[in-house]
Amino acid sequence: MEGTMALPGVDSLEVQKKYISLIKEKNTVYENENGRKRLACVITFGCQMNAHDSEKLLGMLCEMGYGSTDKEQDADFIIYNTCCVRENAENRVYGNLGYLKHKKAEKPDMKIALCGCMMQQPTALETIRQKYRHVDIVFGTFNLYRLPELLYTNIESGSPVFDIWDRHGEIAEDLPSIRKYRFKASVNIMYGCNNFCSYCIVPYVRGRERSRTPEDILCEVRRLADDGVKEVTLLGQNVNSYGRGLEQKTSFAELLRLINGVDGIERIRFMTSHPKDLSDELISAMAECKKVCRHIHLPVQAGCNAILEKMNRHYTKEKYLETVYKIKKAMPDCAVTTDIMVGFPGEGDRETDDTIDVIKKARFSGAFTFIYSRRTGTPAAVMEDQVSEEQAKRSFNRVLEALNPIIYELNTQKIGSVFDVLAEEVSSGDASFITGRTDDNSLVHFKGGRELIGSFVRVKITECKTFYLIGERI
Ligand code: SAH
Ligand code: SF4
Ligand code: F3S
Repeated sequence: MEGTMALPGVDSLEVQKKYISLIKEKNTVYENENGRKRLACVITFGCQMNAHDSEKLLGMLCEMGYGSTDKEQDADFIIYNTCCVRENAENRVYGNLGYLKHKKAEKPDMKIALCGCMMQQPTALETIRQKYRHVDIVFGTFNLYRLPELLYTNIESGSPVFDIWDRHGEIAEDLPSIRKYRFKASVNIMYGCNNFCSYCIVPYVRGRERSRTPEDILCEVRRLADDGVKEVTLLGQNVNSYGRGLEQKTSFAELLRLINGVDGIERIRFMTSHPKDLSDELISAMAECKKVCRHIHLPVQAGCNAILEKMNRHYTKEKYLETVYKIKKAMPDCAVTTDIMVGFPGEGDRETDDTIDVIKKARFSGAFTFIYSRRTGTPAAVMEDQVSEEQAKRSFNRVLEALNPIIYELNTQKIGSVFDVLAEEVSSGDASFITGRTDDNSLVHFKGGRELIGSFVRVKITECKTFYLIGERI
């Protein structure tokens, strides 16, 4: 079956319900015969958008009667939700698939599905078809909700099912979802991206920007609050352009104010903000809304104006810094974090100097740093002045050397202060510690038991490391 082009709507979700119950019947028979549920394992690559899609996949899998596991070796059904923003994300998928080939030889009933951004690229799809014939089901970013139908078709036919759409349909509302955390949740407010930064593959694999209506979003947030969720993270590739194209135009700032009014929700986060669209109205809304966290993730990418222009970012270094200063003026305790890319075509030492200058002036509380990865199909991939790996690595190290002391210094200033920390999980390094986050998104470890998870705990900071804080309950 290939390229079925029904657009998603309420009807087609009804159709999926039929497949959900058909598969559930099969899984119930299996469970009765084997004394255990079939297990599904969803492995996520990439950003929070993908992580949230995986929660929807798990929601559907659960309705189809699968148990869930994070151990691939125990799974009867493995789904890789893929990312293609950088080459190494793709290589990891191919590497894992190579390993699964042997696993499937030992366990022929095992099913393997691939979905997500990487599958939206024709070249990746061709490679899967030719070299990875042990893959059973492939779908993309626009038709995730059709998993039940695709799985059923594969089970019945015994042959691989590829279903990739090249554009979005109606937004599929009301998909079931299983959250990783019971007390915090992600909420899509928009899908896709229209910005076409010259290095970036996302607009090609996630389609054009479209916003959900404020009513649908509020309805979901209220439902989450009723379900015990205290913190929501609003997701979009560029939340600052939320609402464009809606019949009743609503700005992102207005949306924040609406969500701020939902009882039970105590913290609101959002990502990502594109600097070119960050409005004064948003800064005021952040400052006025008590529940909106004192943290903004504002990717700068680079500091050199010529590079920013070639990246198609639509702001200058000066404009970016002005925005950061405005945020800090309105909310002195607001953490600003960023994404930085080095090794973009044409970036030599002098261009990196500008990025380092921005780092020093903006005083970022945290940053994700990336080495530019050439993505076929993007304008930057065919630019002539590609940078050597050696040059890119030098820039990368210089950027880290500038960033880390600032992050450490900002953390040091927190020693002695008291924060409300939302306790999230048992620390991975030491089971007598709990890890949580402050309002400004700092990671804090403190001594405590798992009964604290999901609640706000007052913690006094006693010690700091570069990337986290240590504190004690008071
Ligand atoms: N929409 C978000 C970012 C999504 S991608 C925004 O505009 O801020 C997350 C980060 O990946 C980007 O901020 C960028 O720093 C990085 N990235 C995107 N394309 C890349 C590429 N081709 N090579 C290396 N890093 C890339
Ligand atoms: Fe990519 Fe730019 Fe869109 Fe972000 S805003 S997803 S970096 S094209
Ligand atoms: Fe996210 Fe990667 Fe897709 S960063 S939008 S999962 S290409």
